[in-house]
Amino acid sequence: MGTNLIEIENIKKELASDLKKSSSLEGIDMLKTKYLGKQGKINILFKTLPIKTDPKLGKKINDLKDLIQTKLSEQLTTILTSDNKMSFDVSIPGTPMPRGSLHLISQAIEEIENIFVSLGFVRRRYPEVDTDWYYAEGLNIPKGHPARDDQETFYLDDNIVLTAHTSNGQLHEMELKKTPPIKMINIGKTYRRQIDTTHTPMFHQFEGLVIDKDINITHLLGVTEYFAKSYFGQDRHTRLRPHHFQFTEPSFEIDITCGVCSGSGMVEKTPCKVCKSGWLELGGAGMVHPNVIKNGGFNPEECSGFAFGWGVERVLMMKTGIPDIRLIYSDDIRFLNQF
Ligand code: PHE
Repeated sequence: MGTNLIEIENIKKELASDLKKSSSLEGIDMLKTKYLGKQGKINILFKTLPIKTDPKLGKKINDLKDLIQTKLSEQLTTILTSDNKMSFDVSIPGTPMPRGSLHLISQAIEEIENIFVSLGFVRRRYPEVDTDWYYAEGLNIPKGHPARDDQETFYLDDNIVLTAHTSNGQLHEMELKKTPPIKMINIGKTYRRQIDTTHTPMFHQFEGLVIDKDINITHLLGVTEYFAKSYFGQDRHTRLRPHHFQFTEPSFEIDITCGVCSGSGMVEKTPCKVCKSGWLELGGAGMVHPNVIKNGGFNPEECSGFAFGWGVERVLMMKTGIPDIRLIYSDDIRFLNQF
C-alpha cells in the first residue's frame, strides 16, 4: 500500500477511536470540525495528496469523507435517542420566567369598575381633553366664575382643556343616552397643576352618574355605603358633609371611617395619627344641578339624579397605606412587585 493510502487508513482508525470517546453533542461537533471543517483532515488531504496525478486517490478521499459523515450522523442519532444522561430530563425544574402583572392603578380601576358593574352601572370613558363647555360652562360654571379658580388646570387654548375632573362625562353621557335612565361609571385620567405627596399632575377619577325618575339623596347614600364596604371592608361607614360644587345642589363631601382607629379617632388613648378625627375624606358628590340636567338635554321637571367623583389613587392609598402618591408612578419594580 502506498504512503498516500496508509494516510487514509490512519485517518479511518483515528476516527474510530475518536468516535468511541465522544458521547456528547459537543464532542460530535468537535469531530465535525476536526475532520470536515475548513482546516479539517479531509481538506488537508485534498490539498496535500497528488490528486491531479492520481485520480483514484481523489475518489478514495471522497469515499472517506462520505464515511466520516455517515459515522458522525449515526453517532449523533445514537446520542439523541439513547437513554443516557445527555437526553432531556423533563423533571429538572426550568429557569423561571419573571411574570408581569397589571400596574396597581389598572388593578384598582378593575376592582372599582367591578363593584359598580355589580350594581348595574355601565363603564364609560369620556374625553380627557375636552372643550370648555363639557368641562365647565355646561356644568354650571360660567366664564369668569370664581369656582373656576378651584381647579388650576391646563388649558391648551381658550377652549380646549386637559380635564381636571371626570365630571365632563356627565354631559356626554346624557347626550349619548338622550333619555333617562342613566347609570354610568366614567373612569379616566384627570390633570391638575399640582405635585406633592398626595397629588400628581396626572391622576385618575371615577365619576358616577345616576339619573332617573325620583332619584334622591338616599340613593346616593346607598351607593356610597355599598362602595365603601365592598372596596374597604364591611366594617366601614360613610357620612355626608355639606360642601359646594357648581354642578350639584345640594353638594357634599363624603367621608369614610378610618380603618386604623375604626372611626373612633383614638388608638390606645392617643389621637389616631392617620385621620385625627375618625374620618377620612373620600371625595365630592351631590344631586345633579337642574341646569346641568337641562344642558344635557333632559327635563329637570321629569327626572333627577346624583353624581360623585372620587380619586382612584386616593382610594388606593387609603386602602393600602401607600404614603406617597409619587411611588405609584415610580418605575421601582421592588415597590410595584408588592402588588
Ligand atoms: N368633580 C368634583 C371634583 O373633582 C367631584 C364631584 C363630582 C362632585 C360629581 C360632585 C359631583 O372635585
